[in-house]
Amino acid sequence: MNTQLLIDTANKLVANDKGLLAMDESNPTCNKRFAKLEIPQTEEARRAYRELIITTPGLGESISGVILYDETIRQKKADGTPFLKVLTEAGIIPGIKVDTGAKDLAAHPGEKITEGLDGLRDRLAEYFQMGARFAKWRAVITIGDGIPSRSCLEANAHALARYAALCQEAGLVPIVEPEVLMDGNHALEQCRQVTEEVLRTVFSQLNSQRVMLEGMILKPNMVLPGLTCPTQASVDEVANTTVKSLWRTVPAAVPGIAFLSGGQSAELASARLNTMNLRFKSKLPWALAFSFARAIQKPALEIWQGKEANVKAAQQALLHRAQCNRTARRGEYTAAMEKLSASQIERDAQRGKIPAPLLATPHR
Ligand code: 13P
Repeated sequence: MNTQLLIDTANKLVANDKGLLAMDESNPTCNKRFAKLEIPQTEEARRAYRELIITTPGLGESISGVILYDETIRQKKADGTPFLKVLTEAGIIPGIKVDTGAKDLAAHPGEKITEGLDGLRDRLAEYFQMGARFAKWRAVITIGDGIPSRSCLEANAHALARYAALCQEAGLVPIVEPEVLMDGNHALEQCRQVTEEVLRTVFSQLNSQRVMLEGMILKPNMVLPGLTCPTQASVDEVANTTVKSLWRTVPAAVPGIAFLSGGQSAELASARLNTMNLRFKSKLPWALAFSFARAIQKPALEIWQGKEANVKAAQQALLHRAQCNRTARRGEYTAAMEKLSASQIERDAQRGKIPAPLLATPHR
């Protein structure tokens, strides 16, 4: 195992207040998001959209690494330049999603198990040889009536640990993503209890599979009340509870924690990350970073709408979210950053750069 390479990559991914951009939606998920905006669900549209993302000028100033999908890692710009070359030249580390999706867990109604271990060693070797330096695997935990079960947590944690050990053997930093979903009407406290149990189980399995903690990144959910819970939490409550849970469960040897956004609005995800860093950064053993998909991409996708004429405005929105999140890592993000961006977008619309109807689209 190339210990030094793993440690260096993991540290680079969370250095300089940067974070990760997840653009690893599977084809069905990407198509679903395109369909909502009436964008054609074709390989070419997916390629054009991913080209828009990775060619955003200045992206590498806020983004340390991007997570790609098997289709995307093999794609090229319209002019024939491989995506991997574009990323490397922008100083962005390429990563790859390697799980094959969450499927129903047998005998456990309402619960999922993530698949993808079969043949993983060979796939990892190919991705490393192509230039990827980290990988991602997402486990999905649902809170509901009588769930999650202990057996679901153990099965998912075991798979995450097997995946992480194989990644490290191949020279790839594992991004270990156990996601407790926001769906449901559970309270903040229930999410806290489940998240802590999940993380304890995951680290116990990582230890038994001999995963080197210094060469991995944890990608957890923030601790949040369910989407339909009548009592929602303040930004301060979310920040305090999330940091407390991580403090209790994540070993200090882990270099970085990069949150998923999980369906939060882009602005709330930035505000919550900001408050955690503002209050606790100097006291924590690990970096608190981001690895958002929707909370970085959604505004840009809504502006793009599959139209070449909207590419520049969409890139501007994408860059803005990346910059907001880098600022949140420093604890310096403010709501005023959003107002500035809105007035910039309005000016661009007046100059005809953005179609007027899009101005009414809330980015939530
Ligand atoms: P979201 O930030 O949209 O939750 O996506 C992160 C991710 O990588 C999901 O696996």
